[in-house]
Amino acid sequence: MTTKTLSRRDFLRAMGLGSAGLLTSGSLVSLLSSCTPQGDGSIALATAALPNTETPTLAVESASGIEPDVEIALRAVPAQVPILPGSSTKVWQYQGEVLKGAPEVLQDLPNTYLGPAFHLKKGQTVRIHFTNELPEVSIVHWHGLHVPELADGHPRFAINTGETYVYDFQVSNRAGTYWYHPHPHGRTGPQAYYGLAGLFIVSDEEEQALGLPEGEFDIPLVIQDRLFNNDNQLVYGSNGMMDQMVGFLGDRILVNGQPDFTLPVAMRPYRLRLLNGSNSRIYKLTWDDGTPLSVIGTDGGLLEGPVQREYVTLAPSQRVELWVDFSQHSLDSEIRLLSLPFSGGESMEGGMMGGSGMPQGARFTVLTVKVNQEANSSASLPKRLTSFSSYDVAQVVNRQSPRTFVLAMAMREGWSINGRTFEMTDVAPDEIVKLNTLEMWQFINQAGGMGMGRGMMGGMELPHPMHVHNLQFQVVERQVQSAYRDAWETLSAGYIDEGWRDTVLVMPGEQVKILLKFEDYTGLYLYHCHNLEHEDMGMMRNYRVEA
Ligand code: C2O
Ligand code: CU
Ligand code: CU
Repeated sequence: MTTKTLSRRDFLRAMGLGSAGLLTSGSLVSLLSSCTPQGDGSIALATAALPNTETPTLAVESASGIEPDVEIALRAVPAQVPILPGSSTKVWQYQGEVLKGAPEVLQDLPNTYLGPAFHLKKGQTVRIHFTNELPEVSIVHWHGLHVPELADGHPRFAINTGETYVYDFQVSNRAGTYWYHPHPHGRTGPQAYYGLAGLFIVSDEEEQALGLPEGEFDIPLVIQDRLFNNDNQLVYGSNGMMDQMVGFLGDRILVNGQPDFTLPVAMRPYRLRLLNGSNSRIYKLTWDDGTPLSVIGTDGGLLEGPVQREYVTLAPSQRVELWVDFSQHSLDSEIRLLSLPFSGGESMEGGMMGGSGMPQGARFTVLTVKVNQEANSSASLPKRLTSFSSYDVAQVVNRQSPRTFVLAMAMREGWSINGRTFEMTDVAPDEIVKLNTLEMWQFINQAGGMGMGRGMMGGMELPHPMHVHNLQFQVVERQVQSAYRDAWETLSAGYIDEGWRDTVLVMPGEQVKILLKFEDYTGLYLYHCHNLEHEDMGMMRNYRVEA
C-alpha cells in the first residue's frame, strides 16, 4: 500500500476543496431533499468498489511521531450480517486489526454489525489508522475521550473513499465506557444508523482495585432502534422532513445488534455497561420485577458510590453502568429490562411524532435476562467506588453570567443553537473559551413562546441531548418552567447527574447548568445535540479553546 503523508496544512487545503458540498448551510428544504429515500422507503447502501491494494492512500498524521503502545487498523466497510430470519442485512461496519499490542485490545462482539470494542488502559498511547472504504466521506470520533484537536474526528477532517486518517493520542480518561462513531457533517445519522459504532472501554488501577465483576461478568449492552423493510433491509429517512425534525425512531429494539435480545446469566453479580447508541430514542429503563437499579457509573466512569433508582433515563449517546446481583433471583427465572412510557417527546398537538416506528416514550421490552446457572460468588458491591471531586463553584470564571445556549427552532434552518446552525470552521465570539478555566454553561430548551409559533412545524417541542466534545462535565442545576413540570416529572427521577457526563438531556421547558474545564488542548471542538438527525441538520457548533 502506498502511503503519502501530507502536512496538516496541505491536508486542510485539500479537505476544504474536497468537502465543499458539505459546507453549504442551505435551507431546511435543500437539506432534506439531499436525503431522498428509495421508493420502498429504504436508502440504497451503495456497495462501492473497495480500493484494491494498489490504491494510493492518503495518510494524515494527527500527532507526535512517538512510538505508540498500541497500534490499530480500523476500516469502515460495507458488509452484510444476519439480523432477522431470512435475508441478511446490508450494513456499514467498522472492522479492526491489532497491528501492535495485545490481541485483547480489540474484542469482536458476536453476531453483530457493531465494530470491535477497544479495551485500553489509562495512560496507554495509541495510534489508529482509520481507512474509509465507504462510498462517501467519513471520519471517526472518539466519543467522551479527551484528545488533541487533530484526533477528535471533527467533520472538517472527513476523508474520501480509499483514504486513511491517522489518530495519535494518549488515553487520559478515567476508567469508563466510551464509544466511537462517524462524524462527517450531515451524514452522521445515516452512517451510525447503518451500523457504524463501537465501544471504547478504558480501565485503570483505581477501578481494578475494586474487584468489580470482570470478563464474562462485565457485559456491554448497546441499545439501538431500527426499522426494517420486508426484505430485512434497514430503512432510514422514509418520513422525510418529519424524521429529520423529530429524529429517527425505529420499531425494533436491537441490543448489541440483535433483536429480541436475551442475556443468559449465572446467579451472581454482574456489571452491565449500557450505551444508548440510538439516533434519537430516549430510554426510561427499569427491571420488570421492581428491583431498583443500582447505578455505579455514567458517561465518564464510576460514581463516587452506587445510587439506587426506580428507573434510569438514558438519552442518545449516554452510558450508564449497572451492578446487578442475579443471585437474588431464582434459577430459571426471567427478568426483563423495560423502557417505560414518558411524556415530553411529542408535539403540542400530540401524536404523529413516531415516524414509521414506535413513538418516543412508548413502552417496550429492551432485553430479557434468563437466570440459567447456579454460581457462588460472594462479591459485594463496594459502598465507595471512587473519590469524586466536585468542581468548586468559587473557581468558575463566569458564575454571574453563565454562557447561555438557547435550543430552538430557527425559521429556515430547523433546529439551532442560539439561532445559529453549523458552519464547518465558524466560531462566534461567544464560542471562544480560555484554556485552564472552569466555566458554567447553561442550555435552555426554549419550548413554547419562541418566535416560531405554531407555524409549519406545529410548535414542535422536543428533548435535546446536548453533548460537548473534549471533556467530561458536571451537571449542577436543573430548572423547569412550570407549564412543563408534569411532563418533565415523567423522566426526571431517572437523571443520573451525580458523576461525569459528556451528554446531558435537556427536556422541553428545561434549563440545565453544567460546569466544564478546558484542559491540555487548544483548538476547535464541537458541541451539539446528539439527536443525530438534529445534529445533521446543523444543531451543532464549534467552540474554540484558546491559550
Ligand atoms: Cu458522539 Cu460529536 O459525538
Ligand atoms: Cu463526542
Ligand atoms: Cu436536538
